[in-house]
Amino acid sequence: MTKVKMTVNGKAVSREVSDETLLSEFLRENLRLTGTHIGCDTSQCGACVVHVNGKAVKSCTTLAAATDGADVTTIEGLANGGLHPMQEAFNEHHGLQCGFCTPGMIMTGVDMVNRYKAEGRELTQEAIRHELEGNICRCTGYHNIVKAVEDAASKM
Ligand code: FES
Ligand code: FES
Repeated sequence: MTKVKMTVNGKAVSREVSDETLLSEFLRENLRLTGTHIGCDTSQCGACVVHVNGKAVKSCTTLAAATDGADVTTIEGLANGGLHPMQEAFNEHHGLQCGFCTPGMIMTGVDMVNRYKAEGRELTQEAIRHELEGNICRCTGYHNIVKAVEDAASKM
């Protein structure tokens, strides 16, 4: 067992976990933050994406112990007194159908927009599609997801 301490959605948390506990399990089972979804558990679908120290990571293939001391944000922590512009845009552009992939799509979208803005690069539709290659939507709603990310990028 390992004692893991981190900040999750702005709150300090600390738990004893086994060495092999994944960050996704830690968030969902220890902290009951079930907005982070598990689709494949093999780093392919992106449903489990959260931010660790501001960067998108797949929490199903990250050990909780490896994020000791980190600052973690989940979909639950993204809204801050109101929906985040990325959440608003997904709502406005119908960027979801069943919603299973949505938390991961939104967390990936926010990271992508932040990175492109920080680097002064233009986030084209083609770039959005390329950046979303690690996120799978089984409802195949990609067209509206891309529109939502593009719209959010203009408002973030
Ligand atoms: S559950 Fe992590 S990538 Fe699919
Ligand atoms: S909205 Fe159903 S998996 Fe994407």
